[in-house]
Amino acid sequence: MASYNALDSHSPSPYGFTPYGSGDPYYHSSTGYIAPANNAKKYSSPWIKFGVPVGILVVAGAILAAVLATRHNHSASASASSGSSSSGSPAAASSAIGAKNAVGIFPTATDSEFMVPIYPSTTNAAAFSTPTFNPSDVALAWPADPFSPSNPDRPRLIAPQYKWDVLSNRIANDPYLKYWNDTIFGNATAYYSLPVVAYFMDGGSGILDNAREVKMRIKAFAYVARMTNDTKWVDRAWAEIQNAAGNGTTAFGPATDKWNSAHFLDTAEFSAAYGIAYDWLYDFWTPAQKSQMLFTLNLYGLQPGLSVYQAGSTFGWWSNGTYGNWNCVCNGGLTMAALAILGDDTTGNAAALLGYTINNAKQNCAQTVTPDGTNLETANYWYFATTGHAEMASSLVAAAGSDFGLFTVNQNFSLTGLYHMYVHGSTTLFEYGDHGPNKYSTTANAMFLYASQYDMPQYSLFQRDQVDAADPWSMFWYDPTISGAFWNGLPLDHAFNNNVDQWVSMRSSWTDVSALYVAMKAGTLMGHLTHGDLDCGDFVLDALGTRFAGELGSGDYNAPGYFAAETQNSTRWLYYRKRTEGQNTILVNQQNQLVTAQPTMTFGSSGTTQGSSTVFNAPVNSTAFAVFDLTSAYSAVTSFLRGVRLLNGRRQVLIQDEINATGTVMWRMHTNATIALGANSQSATLTRDGQTMIVTLLNAPSGAQFAVSNAVRLAGDPPLPANATDQPNPGVSVLSISLPAGQYSLQVLFNPQWPGLASSSYVTPPSVPLSSWSLTSHD
Ligand SMILES: *[C@@H]1O[C@H](CO)[C@@H](O)[C@H](O)[C@H]1NC(C)=O
Ligand SMILES: *[C@@H]1O[C@H](CO)[C@@H](O)[C@H](O)[C@H]1NC(C)=O
Ligand SMILES: *[C@@H]1O[C@H](CO)[C@@H](O)[C@H](O)[C@H]1NC(C)=O
Ligand SMILES: *[C@@H]1O[C@H](CO)[C@@H](O)[C@H](O)[C@H]1NC(C)=O
Ligand SMILES: *[C@@H]1O[C@H](CO)[C@@H](O)[C@H](O)[C@H]1NC(C)=O
Ligand SMILES: *[C@@H]1O[C@H](CO)[C@@H](O)[C@H](O)[C@H]1NC(C)=O
Ligand SMILES: *[C@@H]1O[C@H](CO)[C@@H](O)[C@H](O)[C@H]1NC(C)=O
Ligand SMILES: *[C@@H]1O[C@H](CO)[C@@H](O)[C@H](O)[C@H]1NC(C)=O
Ligand SMILES: *[C@@H]1O[C@H](CO)[C@@H](O)[C@H](O)[C@H]1NC(C)=O
Ligand SMILES: *[C@@H]1O[C@H](CO)[C@@H](O)[C@H](O)[C@H]1NC(C)=O
Ligand SMILES: *[C@@H]1O[C@H](CO)[C@@H](O)[C@H](O)[C@H]1NC(C)=O
Repeated sequence: MASYNALDSHSPSPYGFTPYGSGDPYYHSSTGYIAPANNAKKYSSPWIKFGVPVGILVVAGAILAAVLATRHNHSASASASSGSSSSGSPAAASSAIGAKNAVGIFPTATDSEFMVPIYPSTTNAAAFSTPTFNPSDVALAWPADPFSPSNPDRPRLIAPQYKWDVLSNRIANDPYLKYWNDTIFGNATAYYSLPVVAYFMDGGSGILDNAREVKMRIKAFAYVARMTNDTKWVDRAWAEIQNAAGNGTTAFGPATDKWNSAHFLDTAEFSAAYGIAYDWLYDFWTPAQKSQMLFTLNLYGLQPGLSVYQAGSTFGWWSNGTYGNWNCVCNGGLTMAALAILGDDTTGNAAALLGYTINNAKQNCAQTVTPDGTNLETANYWYFATTGHAEMASSLVAAAGSDFGLFTVNQNFSLTGLYHMYVHGSTTLFEYGDHGPNKYSTTANAMFLYASQYDMPQYSLFQRDQVDAADPWSMFWYDPTISGAFWNGLPLDHAFNNNVDQWVSMRSSWTDVSALYVAMKAGTLMGHLTHGDLDCGDFVLDALGTRFAGELGSGDYNAPGYFAAETQNSTRWLYYRKRTEGQNTILVNQQNQLVTAQPTMTFGSSGTTQGSSTVFNAPVNSTAFAVFDLTSAYSAVTSFLRGVRLLNGRRQVLIQDEINATGTVMWRMHTNATIALGANSQSATLTRDGQTMIVTLLNAPSGAQFAVSNAVRLAGDPPLPANATDQPNPGVSVLSISLPAGQYSLQVLFNPQWPGLASSSYVTPPSVPLSSWSLTSHD
């Protein structure tokens, strides 16, 4: 049993928000980055293909002289070439393949509401073993990275030729690769008969949906074309390419700046789509098609990109001190496009851009992961940041044999897969803050790349069962030598704790959609790229296959002032979904929390891990708790501690608030469940998806009782901007407790009504002050 106090309340922030440079703990002005983590895969043959020393590119950031016509005759690095696909025992290999195919894909279905995998209730110690890569499994292993000047130059992006050469064989021997290959073929077939993507300018998100949808289709068409040599896929890809150039049969945007550089994500994603098409289908294109693509890509993509770096453009804000998904997506798209055309590009734009984008992404994109692995923006924005980062790093490795430090410049980037796993509840994400635009070509499949890169096989085992796993990138990022189950040995609880993002994740099982899951956050309210909410103390709660306490999500990105600022009086904080009253926390004096909040957290866990079986019942004393000091988030509060803990072998949850307030106190929780109040309004019965949870107020202070209201702004709130409205929250109710100013201990007990659990088997916990909470304080 381990109990620890990860609190670091009195030391200054280890993680600042100043632009890269002096305030960035990872950025060294001389070298650009700190030493790689020990477990990170290293690359050592940078830029051999292009014959340009890495130093010129990375340190000086000078313009690259890109020459591809003649290969330089450098000797290939031998460091990564251990093993070969011709060695090893064929008999052992075929038996491993047999075992793997016998098990097949672990989950037997996908939950229809939440789209999460449903694992069979089964014990299979052999299959559900400790997560491991087995590189000696030569029949499944990718050939050891044979980066060499004698290899074919293309494809350069993501998928080098040596992987294509063995892909059919790997598909035949791995059930996941087989399933994804089939799915990608199916998806490409579905896209084939659709009209080309129609131009649609959506104010706040520009033409980003268009760009990502084109990229998604190009990936699928290019993959299938290469797997079949059937030129019908090439022709279909060409139709999208021409359409996005405005050369199709219908108009596509304005006469100039078609890729909407003012919202540069759009430009970058179109550039990536062009780069993929150009590179993966290189041998299929006619010279005329290539030159048309070069022209259009330079005009709408690379020239605006270069102006960001060379001309101080107004739309290049994302390149300056921005630790967010914008930097990853923008630099990633430009880099893929530049790598694709390097050597064919006579303008010099591609070479010049590579002199900027890589260093810039190291200083910005790579810092979007905080030291505990959390994404600085939100659980949903993690997808955009990691997709951009992974595509960029993987393309550099495939094209040039080096990630140029993108994987290692932030030594804790490797933890970001843990963030993704723990921020997933039993049903869906702990989706605090903004949810972002539609994903299309964006997935969580960077998990496969990071699994191999950082030797974290559980990332791959987790992701391969997810609904977005079937994607051309997965075919090359997934290492089929993997074995085991992600849950085997994985702690059920994790505290992510630095001053930017304290939050805690606790659950009763990793493999049961019905499991209990509770997550609660504090963290600073600024420094999240204007995607956060005023939500210290906010929580979600899953049980019985449904979400009982949930999030409202994004407001309207086009609403006036929605992205104005994170400062206290920002227009953003006038919208209900962003205000403190729109969160599952305590509202004091009906005022928003203070953006200057510096909360702290303590955490304890029994350290319970799940074993190999998917059937897991935690011991009765298995528990976890966290206590947040939220005093600094309020102006009308003398002290405020909020605690959350698991009870009764992870079957019940207690949330306890100890608050001393000079303004009114209002406990609030948002739910899609139907609420019925019990006797004297001391309890509430929540029903949703045919399941029930009883919420009880314990040791209620005088006057405390539950009430139910709609999820709408409160009377007396400051007005919205002219013409602005809040988005409706249909079906959402607010369970609340209202009290006058004073000092209170509010103890709210959540009892999911587990099938077969007698009412006498529920516990009523003792009343224990938060200062006395420990792993055994409620036994
Ligand atoms: C990939 O999937 C397609 C469609 O199901 C199938 O025809 C093809 O044989 C698969 N490729 C391999 C290598 O199995
Ligand atoms: C791809 O095909 C699968 C299986 O039919 C489907 O579930 C999925 O929604 C498709 N993906 C896209 C992006 O169309
Ligand atoms: C496609 O064509 C290339 C070049 O001719 C060849 O090497 C490859 O084997 C072909 N692939 C298929 C699936 O026919
Ligand atoms: C689109 O048309 C313009 C003008 O004719 C031409 O310069 C460009 O190469 C074309 N691009 C593509 C991708 O068709
Ligand atoms: C980058 O941002 C800093 C701080 O916000 C600002 O002082 C500087 O002028 C910006 N640089 C460029 C090139 O825009
Ligand atoms: C960041 O990584 C370092 C090195 O791996 C590790 O010692 C440290 O604990 C990590 N920080 C956090 C907050 O996990
Ligand atoms: C209600 O359900 C919708 C649709 O699933 C979901 O997006 C939202 O987050 C839920 N709201 C709450 C408060 O749980
Ligand atoms: C926010 O607005 C209020 C009311 O107008 C004002 O009293 C307060 O000083 C403002 N706070 C900040 C940080 O600007
Ligand atoms: C739970 O009980 C077991 C067996 O008595 C004991 O070994 C363990 O330390 C206890 N764990 C906690 C968190 O109290
Ligand atoms: C609660 O806060 C008030 C000041 O607002 C203070 O007078 C009182 O002592 C506090 N109560 C406790 C128990 O700290
Ligand atoms: C509000 O809407 C009206 C009618 O659409 C419009 O005339 C007016 O300019 C708008 N005001 C603002 C501030 O946007």
